[in-house]
Amino acid sequence: MTFQTEDNKTDVVVPARLNTQAPIHELLANRRSPRAFSEQPIDSEKLASLFEAARWSPSSANEQPWRFIVATKDDSRVFSALVESLMEGNRRWAARAPMLVLALAQSTYTKTGTPYQHSWYDLGQSVALLSVQASALGLAVHQMGGFDADKARQLLSIPEGFEPVIVFAVGYPDQPATLPDDLRKREQAPRSRKLLQDLVYTEEWGKPSYHIRTQNSLLTQPSTN
Ligand SMILES: Cc1cc2nc3c(=O)[nH]c(=O)nc-3n(C[C@H](O)[C@H](O)[C@H](O)COP(=O)(O)O)c2cc1C
Repeated sequence: MTFQTEDNKTDVVVPARLNTQAPIHELLANRRSPRAFSEQPIDSEKLASLFEAARWSPSSANEQPWRFIVATKDDSRVFSALVESLMEGNRRWAARAPMLVLALAQSTYTKTGTPYQHSWYDLGQSVALLSVQASALGLAVHQMGGFDADKARQLLSIPEGFEPVIVFAVGYPDQPATLPDDLRKREQAPRSRKLLQDLVYTEEWGKPSYHIRTQNSLLTQPSTN
């Protein structure tokens, strides 16, 4: 798998480790969560495109509950606050990325004030779309639940009514060799997923759907009744 960096200056090659059961778009196939990030900054047009992709995400009642606090290395106070709020295991690699983002979700519906049960779901979708846009731009996103939301709230003066949900790093993927040994091994480990037949059902809970006919022979025979 090859990641193109800005202006095709460098290609960062990582092993082709994706074992898909059906064809998927290359933007999705290329998406992954690296820990090795280049320090190359993200230009402002690309940065705006990322959040534009998130903005056009669907949401319950079109509430658009997502908010983002974005920091590049130019925003040293906010960048440091985000780094400080990360768990140590994430801080070690994420601090090198050129951009960190805190993603937040609105807790109640604006119109009714009632609890917004799908706000995290909606935020997650917007970050997913942002990640695909990143993939299209040769960038990568690595999301991190491993952060202290209370600390982030305090350091960044987050108002009531918004919940810090995730921090993510964005940047150009770099060679795994730039990582310390333990992280490099994780970066190069084969990626794995549950099988489609364990996830998609039709007739009965837990029984592989007959709709899923994969290109390899991993799927058990569909039921004939
Ligand atoms: C909600 C969420 C929380 C995550 N938290 C962390 C984290 O704290 N640290 C980390 O290194 N990766 C984290 N990840 C990244 C996942 O580990 C990663 O997406 C998963 O292993 C699949 O790898 P891939 O994204 O390269 O396909 C998180 C991802 C999500 C969506």
